[in-house]
This record gives sequence, structure tokens and C-alpha cells, in this order.
Amino acid sequence: MNIKSLTEITHPIESELKQFNELFKKSLSSNIALVDLITRYILKQKGKKIRPLLVLLASNVCGGISDRSYRGAILVELLHTATLVHDDVVDSAETRRGFPSINYVWKNKVAVLMGDYLLAKGLMLAVDGTDFDFLRVITSTVKRMSEGELLQISKTRKLDNDEETYFRIISDKTASLFSTCCEIGARAATDDASLIQAMKEFGENLGIAFQIRDDILDFIGTKKIFGKQLGGDIREKKLTLPLIFALKTAPTEESKSIIKSIKSGAKKVDVNSVIKFVQKYDGIFYAEKVALDYSQKALNNLQSFGKSDSKIALDSLVNFVIERKN
Ligand code: IPE
Ligand code: IPE
Ligand code: MG
Ligand code: MG
Repeated sequence: MNIKSLTEITHPIESELKQFNELFKKSLSSNIALVDLITRYILKQKGKKIRPLLVLLASNVCGGISDRSYRGAILVELLHTATLVHDDVVDSAETRRGFPSINYVWKNKVAVLMGDYLLAKGLMLAVDGTDFDFLRVITSTVKRMSEGELLQISKTRKLDNDEETYFRIISDKTASLFSTCCEIGARAATDDASLIQAMKEFGENLGIAFQIRDDILDFIGTKKIFGKQLGGDIREKKLTLPLIFALKTAPTEESKSIIKSIKSGAKKVDVNSVIKFVQKYDGIFYAEKVALDYSQKALNNLQSFGKSDSKIALDSLVNFVIERKN
């Protein structure tokens, strides 16, 4: 399969993305020096901007990009950024997008408040634009994302995650926002309930594939490209799909000893031996297959949309998501 880079994929809406980047930058100005310092630090980083891209492409295939599409795109990227800032506190992550994380540089107190600030900024944008339909969707997404993160924490305490719960976690913490991006993009362009529904489902399936790929990269990624510390999930006692499958497949004694090692905590666990274990019992292979299945579902959701440059871009984005290295 020929995998296009994000630059190639975004080519049809290059100027709209430029416009988005300008507006996003503007949305982050503050007259409090510390806030301004941190927002400038965030703006320096190269996030992939997949969520605003989804909003804009969804709008385009549903009728066209409008001012509302831009507001939606900024809203979701602000919310995404807020959740990353909080997520790095929760996960004690030291690196994000190849830079020291906000909590690492400014400590947890500042990161928690900064995350709240970014979320509030996003919501205000929707209020100011009287996009109450966006607000309804986004507030329920924020709730689902928090639930997903909390369910995940409860599973790390007992270390008893299974496949069913894993899917519930990733659907809530990640796919919910992907789905919302596509829904908001569609809503900005059309009232057609069937198009909106197709876009929502597309986003959900894409989001699941995206998170599975993310969890694979935690085992086999390249730190420099991925921009995050590898093995973070193992250290944080998160049982993700590759590991859940390997634990189920391996002889009981071997699985027990791996669980014991993970239980011993971030400082003691031998991350490399867990990665080897996952590979030995085909955990990566299995997770790649499941991600591929979800990507196929996502492509099917797009079939009802007419052929256009933006539809092709969405198709290519699906393939990018399951092959990505960053
Ligand atoms: C990271 O998302 C959080 C997950 C849902 C895994 P991205 O990989 O889209 O983050 P950036 O914005 O490109 O850094
Ligand atoms: C994804 O969670 C972040 C959110 C959905 C809030 P992870 O903890 O799995 O993502 P990374 O690996 O830190 O980006
Ligand atoms: Mg997390
Ligand atoms: Mg994390």
C-alpha cells in the first residue's frame, strides 16, 4: 500500500489549514505572562493537527468549509491540547511531541490549571459563536474522555484489563473526540442527519484504529519520531491490546511472571522483557490486524460520500493512521 504523508494528504485544503493555524494561534493569546509563556511553548511544538483536519475535511465532503468549521476546528484542537496537558500529569509523562512535557517543566499544579484554561478557551469560542449544537456534542465528549481515563486508572490498579474493557476505554478516551470532530465538521456544513451519522461512525472507527496504533507504537516505536517515551504504558501498568492478547496466548506461568514484573512498578519493571514477551506471543501482529479491521470499517463509512479531493484525503488519512510512526 502506498502510504501518503500528512503533507500530501492535506494538500487539497492547504490554504484552509494555514488559515486554521493563524486563527488557532490568535485564540491562544493571553495577557497573563505565565499563560502566554506556556501557550507559546505549546505553539512551537509540532502536533499532527489530525482533529482539526478531520473537522475541515468532514465539512468539505458535506458541503463546504465555513466560519463555523473553523470555530469547530479550533475548539477540538484546544480541547485535545487540554487533554494532553492533563494526560501527561496523569501518566507522569516527561516528554510530549519531542519536548519536555508541561508538567515536567512547570510542575503538576501549573499543568492542571493550564489544561482547564485551554478547555475553557475552547468552550468560550463556541459560546461566542453561538454554536450551541457544538457545545452539546463537545460537553458529552469531555465527559466520556474523563470516564475513559478513570476507567483506565481503575484497571491499572487491579491489572486485570480485558479486551472488552480495553475497547470501552479507547472508545471513550480517544474515539469519542475523533467522532465528535467528524460530527462537528458535518454539522457545520449540512443538516442531513444521515450524513452526520455516517461521519460520526467514521470518526469512531478511525479513532479506535488510531489509539490501537498508538498503543502499538508504545512497544515498537522510535522515540525520536514518536516524540514520546517508549514503554510508558508498561511503566504505568496499562494493559493495552498487544499485551492483553499476549497474556491470553502465553502459557499461564509465563503470563503470571510478566504480570508480577509489571506490578513491581515503573522503577523495577524490565520494559524490554515485556516488549519481547508481547512480540513472542504475536501481540503486535494481532493488534495490527484489529487496527486494520477498524480502518476498513472507517473506509466503509465513507462510501456514501461522493468522490472529491477531500473524500480522497479522508481515505488516505485512514491508511496513514494505521501505518503512522508518529
Ligand atoms: C495523542 O494524539 C493522544 C492520543 C489519543 C493517543 P495525537 O498523536 O494526535 O497528538 P498530537 O497532537 O499529534 O501530538
Ligand atoms: C490518550 O491517552 C490521551 C487522551 C485521550 C487524553 P494516552 O495516554 O494513551 O496517550 P499518549 O500516549 O500519552 O499520547
Ligand atoms: Mg493516558
Ligand atoms: Mg499518556
